[in-house]
Amino acid sequence: MTGKGVITPPKDRADLVERLKEVQRRYGHVPEEAIAELAESLAIPIHEVYGVASFYSFLSTKPLGRNVIRVCRSLPCYLKSAEMIMEAVEKELDIGPGETTPDGRFTFELANCIGLCDHAPAMLINRDPHVDLTPEKIKQILGAYK
Ligand code: FES
Repeated sequence: MTGKGVITPPKDRADLVERLKEVQRRYGHVPEEAIAELAESLAIPIHEVYGVASFYSFLSTKPLGRNVIRVCRSLPCYLKSAEMIMEAVEKELDIGPGETTPDGRFTFELANCIGLCDHAPAMLINRDPHVDLTPEKIKQILGAYK
C-alpha cells in the first residue's frame, strides 16, 4: 500500500513517532536507511517520515556527540539572559547551535521550554538538568562530561 494519494491510517502516524524514537535510542540518531525502511514498512511517503524525524527536537537525522546540550531558548529563559548562556557554550566549545565538536564529545542544540522555567535560564545535558545558569558556570559544568 504505497504511492501518492494513499491516506495512511492515524495509527501508523502514531506508530511512526514511536518507531523513530526506538531507532534514535538504538543508533543515537535516525539514519537515512532507517527513514527509508520505516517509510516502506508503514506505507508513509519518505518525505513525510523525514519531516517527522526532523521536526521533533528529541530526534536527530545526524549523528550526535556523546553528550547533547540543549539550551532553552523560550521566553522565560530568554528574559533571564539565555543568550549569554548560548554564547558561553559557543565560546567554550567553539561550535554553534546544531553543531558537534570535532572530537564527538558534544552536540550543541537549542530547545524550546524544557520545563525548568522557575530556575531559568536552564539547559539539559543528556538527561541532566542544569539550572540558574550563569556564563561563569558553563565551563565547570561542561568539564564534568567526558
Ligand atoms: S522557558 Fe526555559 S525552561 Fe521553560
